[in-house]
Amino acid sequence: MVKLKIESIEPVTERISLFSLVSEDGGLLAGYDAGAHVDFDLGDLGTRSYSLIDFEPAQGDRATYQVAVQREADGQGGSMAMHRLVPGDTVSVSPPKNDFHLHEGDEPALLIAGGIGVTPIISFATECKRRGTPFAFHFASRSADLCPFRERLAQQFSANLTLWFDDQKMIDLAALIDTASADTHIYCCGPRPMIEAVREKAEAAGFPADQVHFELFATPTEQDGDQPFEVELASTGQVFNIPPGKSIVEVLEDAGIDVMYDCARGDCGICQTDVISGTPDHRDVVLSDSERASGKVMQICVSRARSPRLVLDI
Ligand code: FES
Repeated sequence: MVKLKIESIEPVTERISLFSLVSEDGGLLAGYDAGAHVDFDLGDLGTRSYSLIDFEPAQGDRATYQVAVQREADGQGGSMAMHRLVPGDTVSVSPPKNDFHLHEGDEPALLIAGGIGVTPIISFATECKRRGTPFAFHFASRSADLCPFRERLAQQFSANLTLWFDDQKMIDLAALIDTASADTHIYCCGPRPMIEAVREKAEAAGFPADQVHFELFATPTEQDGDQPFEVELASTGQVFNIPPGKSIVEVLEDAGIDVMYDCARGDCGICQTDVISGTPDHRDVVLSDSERASGKVMQICVSRARSPRLVLDI
């Protein structure tokens, strides 16, 4: 973690603000590729990840990081804590990390964003423009008023940008995907239903999985009716109780068990674990429908159980 100073906070919409961060000593910050994010350390509230936004082409070290933060009515209040910060405050921020990469070739990119999930997609659009990669940028918001960066995006990406407002016309994902050329790389960041729809339609249209890229914009939250369940580790026979509000990864980590994970949102696939017995309750966006139905693997950072006990190959 490094300490960064909040240089400015600009309101973007009623609920979204743009934070600009600089180093405390005025030095340069580590560079990153489009799609990267940083984690903010919010003390007792844990960490929150925000994608780094590049409106202008940039490479190498940066003078400033910019992130957009939407105030959520989340139970744990992380986004509220972010919105209580003021210019001049310092925050602990991780170095940039990237699980969401733009392809290297010159094949076209179909960029699809929903709501605040637009932030990494803006950086992809900026990078496509810089490289000369053909791209189409489709951005769906609830309404024109709730659409962040509307004018700025229209100025910068006018020829490539289509804005969709749910109160006027819903984004037509099937048409976008069906008319994309077979070599197109499809990128989506937004809420879970949008990502699931894009994955489903891309698969139905014959796009191979390695041309479909996505990042879920949501932190996993407890769902009404979540029940405790047990996890047994096949290697040792140890049994752990997973209460509502805690993930399998969190419980195992707290117990000092070494588990591999990264995004902790169910979209990277790193924590995928074989299920030896029991029935998973899948909450990721990584697995295909057939993998889910098989019940043989699960993402232990978000998914839970429908059976009282899961035996995992750990
Ligand atoms: S850590 Fe990314 S899917 Fe679980």
